[in-house]
Amino acid sequence: MLAGSRVLLGVTGGIACYKSVDLCSRLRKAGAEVRVVMTESATRFVSALTFQSISGNPVATDLFATPAQSAVEHIWLAEWGSVAVVAPATADILGKLAHGIADDYLSTVLLAFAGPALLVPAMNRLMYAHPAVRASLAALEGMGYAVLPAEYGHLAEGVSGWGRMPEPPAIVERLQALVAEGRAPRPGLPPPAPRDLAGVGVVITAGPTQEPIDPVRFISNPSSGKTGWSLAEAARERGAEVTLVAGPVAMADPPGVRVVRVRTAVEMAEAALVAYEACEVAICAAAVSDFRPAAAAPEKIKKGAQDGLELHLVRNPDILAAMGERKGRRVLVGFAAEAGAGPEEAERKRAAKGADLVVYNDVRRPGLGFGADDNAVVVVGAGGLREALGPMPKRELAHRILDRVVMLRRGQ
Ligand code: C5P
Repeated sequence: MLAGSRVLLGVTGGIACYKSVDLCSRLRKAGAEVRVVMTESATRFVSALTFQSISGNPVATDLFATPAQSAVEHIWLAEWGSVAVVAPATADILGKLAHGIADDYLSTVLLAFAGPALLVPAMNRLMYAHPAVRASLAALEGMGYAVLPAEYGHLAEGVSGWGRMPEPPAIVERLQALVAEGRAPRPGLPPPAPRDLAGVGVVITAGPTQEPIDPVRFISNPSSGKTGWSLAEAARERGAEVTLVAGPVAMADPPGVRVVRVRTAVEMAEAALVAYEACEVAICAAAVSDFRPAAAAPEKIKKGAQDGLELHLVRNPDILAAMGERKGRRVLVGFAAEAGAGPEEAERKRAAKGADLVVYNDVRRPGLGFGADDNAVVVVGAGGLREALGPMPKRELAHRILDRVVMLRRGQ
């Protein structure tokens, strides 16, 4: 997960900073590129040269040193990083960051850094318990920073208490999870998504299917997979363990999501129903071909002299209906792309297939639906539920649909 990441490792002046040398080495072993930024006091504990050797990159300490990369080196560095971790994070850096103070290299880089950032506080137990430090940590969490809390244990002053820095493997693990989540503090953006699907297994079908006619031709449709992708990313953001069963689409795997690529409806049904067994939520967003050629011709079909061609089609398995038959306590959501029929048709499908919700959309509306980034839908559910949503970006729509899923899980 950290392979290919560019990690900014901030080291501040706490006795635990000797452990950050090991952390730096572990990050590199995990495949990350690491650049270290040290505060002046951190250099009193461990030399910059140590971190330079372990990270394989120059170490930044002095804001006013001759720049190597750019005239505004700290901004270059903030843009270089894909994820940041400050370990140990002393009361000083937490207070500065919580209040937007940038008076040295590290505080300046952190303020300019827009990616996911993990803070690992470590300090004396009395300092850690101080209301000002608690307030800084709470404020930073509210801004979207991830915090790996200090642990209870033996402290440098000879007593035990809360304030010990977690061991480097635990820090690497938390950082990996953060990279998978992609949550980042950014002023002006909406607050991070709620973690109300933490640990919940969610299977999502997405994209079209292709039903081969011969080796070079197939039956398909213009589904882009964007709706399924948005749902997978949104569910992942909320902490779900997502399996995305995707037909042929051009998009790269969303980070932190298990992706199973398939081609035909039969393959999609097989993969989705296996994943379904271990899931609590299923969302069928794929545009599955209802029919497939009874048998694909083994070789490319030639025109010859004939003036027509008959294809014999057979029904494909209905994945949503199969899930409905063995729903148990799961929450099951389908989609109904209609070109003319209204939400009542979606309600008919919902009842027939045993789903909790069906998301109705009218595919004839220009600029919305198939292939577009935005959509407008009506969420149809039992008891006459009709919730009109949008037009809005598919990602936002995904969150609104997941809000409904969470409500159903809570029995609301
Ligand atoms: O009946 P219709 O195809 O309109 O139903 C749409 C819903 O059923 C969608 O959620 C779609 O993903 C699902 N479906 C399926 N397998 C099929 C056909 C549709 O899961 N073979």
